Amino acid sequence: MEKIIVNGGQKLNGEVEISSAKNSVLPIIAASILCKDKCVIENAPMLEDVYVICDVLRDLGCKVDIDKVQNNIMVDTTNITLKDPNMELVRKMRASFLIMGPMVARFGRFKLSLPGGCNIGSRPIDLHLKGLKALGAEVDTGHGFVEVDVKKLVGNKIYLDFPSVGATENIMMAAVFAQGETIIQNAAEEPEICDLAMFLNSMGAKIQGAGSGTIKIFGVKELNYTSYKPIYDRIEAGTYMAAAAITRSKIKVIGAIEEHLRPVISKLQECGVTMDIQSDSILIDGSNAFKAVDIKTMPYPGFPTDMQAQMMSLLSLGSGTSIVTETVFENRFMHVSELCRMGANIKIDGRVAVIDGVNKLTGCEVKASDLRAGAALILAGLAAEGMTCIGDIYHIDRGYVDIEKKLKRLGADIKRINE
Ligand code: UD1
Repeated sequence: MEKIIVNGGQKLNGEVEISSAKNSVLPIIAASILCKDKCVIENAPMLEDVYVICDVLRDLGCKVDIDKVQNNIMVDTTNITLKDPNMELVRKMRASFLIMGPMVARFGRFKLSLPGGCNIGSRPIDLHLKGLKALGAEVDTGHGFVEVDVKKLVGNKIYLDFPSVGATENIMMAAVFAQGETIIQNAAEEPEICDLAMFLNSMGAKIQGAGSGTIKIFGVKELNYTSYKPIYDRIEAGTYMAAAAITRSKIKVIGAIEEHLRPVISKLQECGVTMDIQSDSILIDGSNAFKAVDIKTMPYPGFPTDMQAQMMSLLSLGSGTSIVTETVFENRFMHVSELCRMGANIKIDGRVAVIDGVNKLTGCEVKASDLRAGAALILAGLAAEGMTCIGDIYHIDRGYVDIEKKLKRLGADIKRINE
């Protein structure tokens, strides 16, 4: 079993390069199902979740070539067939449900296993299904499956009760070939939604308004070849910015885009971090990053839930009391008990965590309960006294390209071991 070992206390310095956004690339690869022939995703992040979605497409008959030197992924859908996908594969990752919209758009029906809950909450799919029904589909759930069937998808107005990222993406992809105009209201506004729309438009789709609360999709007949480079991963960038803050160091994060990171930048600045912001990089100085701040996670452009755990590690060493409120997922404080084992003083009441800053954290054996919780423990380990040994790091590998190599290059004392 692999573990990450961090010997805390080293200052970081130098530059780190951010990879493309996992949360863009997963829906983009799913969306390539809509392409009549082949498409290329440039500079793709070589991550476990990306390999899983590629395997899901291969299982459906697509040819998927991963070029690990150029970091390109080529998807050829010429031989895609309508079949029940390999459930073991699909159930490896919740984001596999993103193939539902494109498969229904392409074949008029599809059957997929219902995604289960996960460590951070129950994560229902009612909004995905509400959207598909509004486009004319019949939806049947039972025996752990969801079956969608439609003669012809027809555009409609769909109001989402909550701006769900996945539901917005699935509906947008399903509506690409629908007759007439589809309008998604209270749509998610995340940059990854924009990226998916730009990818689809580059293949010939007609989507307007992505990135705002109202998205319009005008049905087209077919989508054709494209080669597309997705945006940088704002959560990976935010994680390295927090790494500079927690180690009170100065580093340059290449691929940190201000427009995508405003809430994170603002909170880090409140903590005392100073920044030199350029068009495609941010130089962070975390020398004075010790102030306590309050954070409430919200859908974009609010503070991202995917940065909540990492910020909590930083605030554990703040001077004073911080309050962190998680409004997006109901069970996203799994990292707290592990941070407390490292000496943090955090109390949870429902969706609220109260963090009383301590003078030091101390290294110990901890476990990553999910992707961002794992990143938070690495950050805590970088600042802790002594050795932190993080287990269950497969969670971390789902979303961070070469995290220990990138941190090592910045001067951290970190390594991966195989026990
Ligand atoms: C995506 C991201 C994930 C991020 C999350 C919120 C990907 C692959 N994953 O997940 O990293 O943490 O956005 O920014 O892009 N909900 C419903 N009904 C639905 C769908 C969602 O009630 O049909 C609820 C969920 O339970 C959750 C909230 O909406 O409480 C947000 O979920 P959603 O935005 O859908 O997140 P994901 O797309 O799953």
